[in-house]
Amino acid sequence: MLSAAQGKRHVMNAPKPLVLPSDVTGFARAAEMLRAGQLVAFPTETVYGLGADATNGPAVAKIFAAKGRPSFNPLIVHVSDIEHAQRLVKLSGKAIELAEHFWPGPLTFVAPLRCKEISALVTTGLKTLAVRVPAHPSAQAILADCPNGIAAPSANPSGRISPTTAAHVVSGLGAQIDAVLDGGSCSVGLESTILSVEEDEITLLRAGGLSAERITEVAGSALRPAPLGHVTAPGMLASHYAPNARLRLNAKSPMPEERWLGFGPDHFGGVTLSAQGDLTEAAANLFAVLHRLDAEGDTPIAVAPVPKTGLGLAINDRLTRAAARR
Ligand code: TXA
Ligand code: MG
Repeated sequence: MLSAAQGKRHVMNAPKPLVLPSDVTGFARAAEMLRAGQLVAFPTETVYGLGADATNGPAVAKIFAAKGRPSFNPLIVHVSDIEHAQRLVKLSGKAIELAEHFWPGPLTFVAPLRCKEISALVTTGLKTLAVRVPAHPSAQAILADCPNGIAAPSANPSGRISPTTAAHVVSGLGAQIDAVLDGGSCSVGLESTILSVEEDEITLLRAGGLSAERITEVAGSALRPAPLGHVTAPGMLASHYAPNARLRLNAKSPMPEERWLGFGPDHFGGVTLSAQGDLTEAAANLFAVLHRLDAEGDTPIAVAPVPKTGLGLAINDRLTRAAARR
């Protein structure tokens, strides 16, 4: 039997993060840890999020510390349904129409903050709050047990590639977080599309896992681009998603010293985002492929052109940031 001291030491040395299974026990434990102010990464259909109770200031502060995230970059609060979202923010009629159509799903609204309990660290003091209802069953199960809502950025060190598997989370954040719930690979693979909706005017703050075309179809009007030079989503820094290797975009073929990241059938002995040239498949593969190329070393990477339609808009956005000088 362990002595009390040994037992205590054993607990203190418990390996972090705890990897929780995607079942009722795992969901209950994840929710319990979140309610207790701990940091728990969990899967959503877009990417893994690093969660904390949205009303618990010290817990939210730990997110910024674990990620090395600039304190001026606000977080998205995840909730289980549109009613909960409406208690947190004031959604316009148009926003409600879109939410009813696309939630749960890869869409986030930035709207006027209404709830006083949300930690000011979440909004970084702004008068608006970002909210999303994720579709992933694990996220839904945990949210059902977290009535305060879960503040969660993507679960990667700030500026690095977003995680689409629990293994990505563990290798990026490791012991800085308390647990990760392993729900397999994310099906969408790109972060949510972020909109702000004022009256009937819809502004695209971040291209993401829901294409602008699909939103336009339902909204019946075009999306306004975010005002030029105005950083409406402070996280949209020029350099982000940075792999160790240099990326050269829109390449026709690799140069002798380059690895190849293709789109479509041309392999040049490298990898492809989608052999069929399918944008949905490419989106789902993008971050996992970048993580894999990262693990191989820092030999430069030539990237094939990806069409700028549908999800291709968000894929190009992420590739451009990954390729930016830093
Ligand atoms: O799919 C996603 O959106 C994932 C999953 C975990 O839900 N989350 C995610 O969070 O991508 P993050 O923190 O990596 O990106 C959130 C973006 C940042 O660019 C942030 O600046 C912006 O949302 N944002 C949050 N609150 C905002 C606000 N009040 N006004 C403008 N932008 C805001
Ligand atoms: Mg992120």
